[in-house]
Amino acid sequence: MKDFAQVLIAGAKGQLGFEFQKLFSQKGITFVATDIDELDITSETAISHFIKNKCFEYIINCAAYNDVDGAEKDAHSCYLLNSIAPQLLASCAKKIDAIFVTYSTDFVFDGRKNSPYTEDDVPNPLSVYGKSKLEGEKRVFETYQKAFVIRTSWLFGIGGKNFNAQVLEWSKKTNELKIVDDQISVPTYAKDLALFSWLLVQTKKYGLYHISNGGEASKFDQAKYLLEKVGWNGKVLPAKTHEFNVAAKRPSYSKLNSTKCEQAVGQKIPHWQSGIDRWVDEWKKINSKA
Ligand SMILES: NC(=O)c1ccc[n+]([C@@H]2O[C@H](COP(=O)([O-])OP(=O)(O)OC[C@H]3O[C@@H](n4cnc5c(N)ncnc54)[C@H](OP(=O)(O)O)[C@@H]3O)[C@@H](O)[C@H]2O)c1
Repeated sequence: MKDFAQVLIAGAKGQLGFEFQKLFSQKGITFVATDIDELDITSETAISHFIKNKCFEYIINCAAYNDVDGAEKDAHSCYLLNSIAPQLLASCAKKIDAIFVTYSTDFVFDGRKNSPYTEDDVPNPLSVYGKSKLEGEKRVFETYQKAFVIRTSWLFGIGGKNFNAQVLEWSKKTNELKIVDDQISVPTYAKDLALFSWLLVQTKKYGLYHISNGGEASKFDQAKYLLEKVGWNGKVLPAKTHEFNVAAKRPSYSKLNSTKCEQAVGQKIPHWQSGIDRWVDEWKKINSKA
């Protein structure tokens, strides 16, 4: 007797995984939500054992090694999770003929371009994290064609580690914040990423896609907008990347062009400021209950 659920989510306790769970619950889509305790995606044996006798139509990988600076010192863990694990999952998806979905990053680019990056632009990652994600992309497509690899940028959701949550924490401890204005990309709301990923997956137009919210922003723009929105009384000052001691190099410009996805699904992805507005509303609701 085979168990039945349409979707397997790996890394389901993370920002994106959490939004997929909410989306599927709303849509009445059956799913199995797993994180490292239920399914360690770096273990081929664990994956094979887990999918045995199950007939998922989709496997969605939301798990990743996301510590961009930590990866410079621990490349092994980073490659295991970002390069090898997506390949293992793609291979299992192939065995059961499930559609496979996994995620990559704007950090596969070096930032030398000054207009939004398309899927046809040549990647040149500057960090171990970016290199591991690019390697993961290649391994997935070498393994399985019924796959979507979706690059996104500067993700923020509810309940996870992200820049919005970090800025709000900092703002409790000081009246003056210095935030870099020389890194530009697009903050992306995990809720929008989950929805547009799902719309895209339904098209069955497999391949590489970019999905980020509309517009572009520096980290300074993002922090300023967020802090104004929550009514913070302090001051946000622009700073430069070289003023901070971080291990990994980041692209100075890595806005993704999401037109290929928008054309495939026939809908525009909302602007990042709309994403922050909705994130703040949700954050306030959660914090008023706490
Ligand atoms: N966050 C960003 O700014 C950003 C930017 C560009 C692209 N992306 C990509 O977007 C995707 C979703 O990111 P996210 O921010 O939602 O990630 P996240 O919040 O860090 O969630 C990842 C989840 O995977 C879990 N996990 C770690 N190792 C695992 C393993 N071996 N097996 C199964 N699960 C494991 C994590 O558990 P623990 O928390 O216990 O480790 C966590 O619950 C990722 O592919 C990420 O690289 C993110």
